[in-house]
Formats: sequence, C-alpha cells, structure tokens
Amino acid sequence: MKKSLKRIDAHLSSLGYCSRSEAKQFLKRFKVCVDGVRVFDVSKKVPHDVVRIEGEPLDPEALLILMHKPSGVICSHDDAGVLIYSLLPERFGRRNPKLSTVGRLDADTTGAILLTDNGTLNHQLSSPKSDVTKVYEVTLAQALRGDEAALFASGTLMLNGESKPLQPAHMEVMSSTQVRLEISEGRYHQVKRMFGAVGNKVVALHRVRFGVYDVEDLGLGEYRVLDFGV
Ligand code: URA
Repeated sequence: MKKSLKRIDAHLSSLGYCSRSEAKQFLKRFKVCVDGVRVFDVSKKVPHDVVRIEGEPLDPEALLILMHKPSGVICSHDDAGVLIYSLLPERFGRRNPKLSTVGRLDADTTGAILLTDNGTLNHQLSSPKSDVTKVYEVTLAQALRGDEAALFASGTLMLNGESKPLQPAHMEVMSSTQVRLEISEGRYHQVKRMFGAVGNKVVALHRVRFGVYDVEDLGLGEYRVLDFGV
C-alpha cells in the first residue's frame, strides 16, 4: 500500500511536538531525519514511518493508551484539580485530533482507563451498545445482605431516574464487604448506584479490567501505549 505523505511541519504539529509556526526552530534544535537524512525544510513531505527525532520513531499516528488511574485524578479536559492528561507527556495534550478518555472513571475510582484520539474507536468502545466487559473490585461500607448477586444477575434492576433496567451483571463475593462485579454497560456512576439501590455504599472502587485490558502490570499513574492497528 502507498504510504501517505504529510508536510513535516503539519505532521509534527498534529502529533503535538511543536506548533506549525515553531517547526522551523524545532528542526534546527532537534535532529529530525527522514530515511537517515536530516531535514530542515518545513515543507518537506514525509511518510510517518521513516521519520526519526533524535533517533526515536514518531509517536503513533493514532494513539490508544491504557492507564492505571490513581485516585484523585479527574477524567476531564477542563475541571479544576489534577487532570488525567497531566500524567502523560505534554505533547500528547497538544495532539490534534485531541486525546480523550474512553468513558470516565470517578475521581476517587482507581484502575483501568483507555485514552484515544480516534473518535470512531472511542465511540465503539464507550457506546452503551458496545457491550465491552468491565470488571470492578468493590469495597462496601456495610456487609452484603445476601440477595445482591441474584438481583444484579436478573436484568430487572432499575436505577433511579432511568427508564430501562440494567443488563444482567455478574457479582462474585470476596468477603462480607468486598465483591468483584462484572458489567457490560457504562451508565453514569453505575456501580455506586447499583449498591445504593440495595441500601449499601461503595467506599472504594477499582476497575481491574476494561475489555481485554487489565492494569495488573502497571503502577498507579503508569500507562502503556497500545498497539493499535489503524
Ligand atoms: N461506576 C461508578 O459508580 N463509578 C466509576 O468510576 C465507574 C463505574
């Protein structure tokens, strides 16, 4: 397949390395090579794969990132507080199209969250119809009463203010106040509202897995760029 060519100033800018107007300075300051030959001409058209900056390949053209979100970090572009994007290299925050989280985790929730700049993929993974499985470890304020697993599995639980019952969810009891919960939807504050509906309160929430991605090998705040074949 023929590789698409992009003007290097526009390409570096869309990947967040510098703005278009800074590209000339960027090419002077950093050793940017195409097929091993240093480039100074901002208008040069280049295929993505053969560009190196100080010997390093460019960031992927489409980004998919898995992060182990710490507590206290906010999945938003513009709220007050520590934003999730501040845990990534600054240039990721300057990319165009913009990098966004796939759905959200509450500020006090830890665990697996994906970020991507691919709108189609984001929609596919976060849409209510996507059926991506999410697994949570839930710590509760009060001991389980005993009927929660059956109710969650029934597909009849209606959350306050909603017009459709929740899809069946699988709950495994770990102790009287700890469960592992597998859900396929992603409604607003879903896990906390499910336990609210059975008279309990979530005191700690950790997402172990989103789809096939788990964060077992990532420390809090660490991330991995995933191989994303676009
Ligand atoms: N459900 C919640 O209530 N909060 C989250 O952060 C994720 C799922």
